[in-house]
Amino acid sequence: MTPRELAKANLENLYRIFTVPEAPDSTLGRVDQAITDNVTGFLQEHIVALEHSLEDIEEDFDDPCIPEEPTFVSEYSAFVKEKLVAQSVHTAAPGFIGHMTSALPYFMLPLSRIMTALNQNLVKVETSKAFTPMERQVLAMLHRLVYEQDDSFYRKYIHDSEHALGAFCSGGTIANVTALWTARNKLCGPDGEFRGIAREGMGAALRHLGCEGLAVLVSRRGHYSLGKAADLLGLGRDNLVLVDTDDRNRIDLDALQRKIDQLQGEKIRPLALVGIAGTTETGNVDPLEALADIAAEVGCHFHVDAAWGGPTLFSDKNRHLLQGIERADSVTLDAHKQLYVPMGAGMVVFKDPAALAAIEHHAAYILRHGSKDLGSHTLEGSRPGKSMLVHAGLSIIGRKGYELLIDLGIARARQMAEKIKGHPDFELITEPELNILTYRYNPSWVQTALETADADQAERINRLLDQITRLVQKVQRETGKSFVSRTRLRVPRYGVTVLTVFRVVLANPLTTDEILDAVLQEQLAIVERDEIRQLIQELNETFNPFHGKNGECC
Ligand SMILES: Cc1ncc(COP(=O)(O)O)c(C=O)c1O
Repeated sequence: MTPRELAKANLENLYRIFTVPEAPDSTLGRVDQAITDNVTGFLQEHIVALEHSLEDIEEDFDDPCIPEEPTFVSEYSAFVKEKLVAQSVHTAAPGFIGHMTSALPYFMLPLSRIMTALNQNLVKVETSKAFTPMERQVLAMLHRLVYEQDDSFYRKYIHDSEHALGAFCSGGTIANVTALWTARNKLCGPDGEFRGIAREGMGAALRHLGCEGLAVLVSRRGHYSLGKAADLLGLGRDNLVLVDTDDRNRIDLDALQRKIDQLQGEKIRPLALVGIAGTTETGNVDPLEALADIAAEVGCHFHVDAAWGGPTLFSDKNRHLLQGIERADSVTLDAHKQLYVPMGAGMVVFKDPAALAAIEHHAAYILRHGSKDLGSHTLEGSRPGKSMLVHAGLSIIGRKGYELLIDLGIARARQMAEKIKGHPDFELITEPELNILTYRYNPSWVQTALETADADQAERINRLLDQITRLVQKVQRETGKSFVSRTRLRVPRYGVTVLTVFRVVLANPLTTDEILDAVLQEQLAIVERDEIRQLIQELNETFNPFHGKNGECC
């Protein structure tokens, strides 16, 4: 082909990829079909591909050059199948119980295709039309789940261009940032000569308020997205004040009061108090009612991060665990967690439909004053029609369906906790309040020893147990049959010592009792490996009182 003919052929092919619907038997279609058909097990019984290390996989992605020439879709889809699909993580597997990403209802896949094909942009009505009222409806549904206002309230505000019941975004992080951004701009809004922080910045705002800084208070279990928010909003990460927790990983109210007093002494004004409804690592819920009282007393914004635990409100049996959430000024909810929507969907709802005016932005070509464009009060600009998938979940699964899922997860977590407590060589570290729990492998004779160990001994025992936990978790993950995550926690019964523990998240309805048994059995089998036996031997030898007596355990 001459260069001219080649350019022409390329142009024709380019037209084709935008205009010719994909043949159902095309290679790309087959990859897609394989995933769709086999979505409950596209990597068969394995959670990750066994053969390749991350370093090996990096070699498939180490060329920084953009291909000069176009390639065939069939060639590219072969690459996707071989290098991406086969080497991805099977987050839907029922034995994948370590993270907050779980199975998706099958209808999310075809609906996602429709969403992609429509390619709506929710920043403005001109590029989204019906998607804008649909998103507003979704926000109203979640607002109602939290705040339970009456019909007239929703009739008034659901589609009112001057108000917004919340903001839809890509996840919990942006939702938390949006909540604190709104709180900041409300506290430091225009007042007399002062034109507000949004125009004049933090320095002028602090001078206006007559204080040295603004702080956000949250328990030590707060999600790290709050640190990002403190940084972005100009508060400074040091002004995200972390409050100690009680023995159930909930904010300690006395410690909170002491922090508030200390801040006041330093002329730092509390901007917001954040309660957590489902901590990321342990799934605990702060005493929201008490926090609402304290926020009211201090006169600060009360935000609840319910990214994980929010959907507990669907459950008649368990919604009492979130008592007080309805008093929050704003609430974060993550749809890509327990609403079972694909990744990239979060929300923040506000009690006051006028609150989001504090962060409103306008532009001449879109987002005009009085328009219904959703982009005027979202941090993100262009946004996909993800709310369609939340709408689908809420419509198809319904309140009762979500209730079943929530109740099942909580019941499973309790079952697993019982199994752990019932086994002499496991130690439950945190009891599940919702559907997350932590534990570690800790042979019974070591548990007994820990009861009488002095601080130094306990420290050494715990460090060896940490190593064992890390190794077991790594081997289990690499073996690829099941997966639990690990984290580090301060556990009150061990004083200030931070322990490495297994973390289990039970939100996949396909996770059965037998699978939970298999996860624990696999860990007990891993402990028999030489490298871990050596660590157990070390435990045995380090502490004279047990040496020899428990030789059989090694
Ligand atoms: C309590 C909590 N808040 C916020 C987030 C952040 O959510 P995302 O990862 O969707 O940004 C998470 C994520 O795990 C979370 O557990």
